[in-house]
Amino acid sequence: MLKKISIIGAGNVGSSLAQRLAEKSCDDVVLLDKIEGLPQGKALDILQSAPILGFSGCLTGTNNYRDTAGSDVVVITSGAGRKPGMSRDELLKMNMASVSEVTRNVVSHSPDSIVIVVTNPVDAMTYLALRESRLPRGRVLGLSSVLDSSRLSSFIAAELNVPASEVSALVLGEHGRNMVVIPRLATVKGRPLTEIIPQETIERLVERTINGGAEIVGLLKSGSAFYAPSAAAARMVEAIALDKQEIMPCAAYLEGEYGIKDTVISVPVKLGKSGIEQIIELELAGDEKKALTDSAEAVRKLIDTMKLG
Ligand code: LAC
Repeated sequence: MLKKISIIGAGNVGSSLAQRLAEKSCDDVVLLDKIEGLPQGKALDILQSAPILGFSGCLTGTNNYRDTAGSDVVVITSGAGRKPGMSRDELLKMNMASVSEVTRNVVSHSPDSIVIVVTNPVDAMTYLALRESRLPRGRVLGLSSVLDSSRLSSFIAAELNVPASEVSALVLGEHGRNMVVIPRLATVKGRPLTEIIPQETIERLVERTINGGAEIVGLLKSGSAFYAPSAAAARMVEAIALDKQEIMPCAAYLEGEYGIKDTVISVPVKLGKSGIEQIIELELAGDEKKALTDSAEAVRKLIDTMKLG
């Protein structure tokens, strides 16, 4: 990958993403954190696995935004994560200031970058980053439904005892309680899920998907998920860096698509070198469309609490 990728925040998601990108032999990855030594130590540790795993490329740990200058893609992972019993929305007040500051620093050093936001609550934080950055909407997007769709696929695969690669599933909307799971579009080896398993089972898997992040927070007791989130972020980075023109559901600012305006929710988008190259409008059934509108309204309410004016 002949691109420069910077990751802001060397916590679990940020450092796992650095590891994943390094293992894909990305040429230039920068891991930044404000804690002295943390990104440097993690970068060194990851690089010491290169002779074992056989990857090449350059990974730098730093506390200085100057090292991120000229990035093509920047992933913002910094901020607090959830504790057991907390919703993502409760992180809003804690993470607002840091996402604003990080975005300003990122854009001043990499004005041509595409920014992927991971910090929760991700839809509202993506909206905030878009505002702060003043970048076009296609260049600021959030990580959400690649992860949620993967969680649903993994639950379906486990339920049916089939390889996850044979399952395809789609989740849209908010990355939170109001996520919109669309079982009608899930398939196993190309067969509609709705023809394979009973409705009650589908409902159980949908509910587990909606609680996917919270289930892991509850098990870990301190910290939240990072293996699947970093895998999802790596997939998005790759689609952009390699100009793959791949369609995947990402948190995007809508300007009338799906009848929704001035908010950020996850919808299918085509990702390429310019970031979001196209927003795909699927034909949704009446109840699905209503669920998506309600989901957008929930995010809008959260955005309003930020009083951005
Ligand atoms: C989760 C976090 C990344 O869903 O929101 O695990």
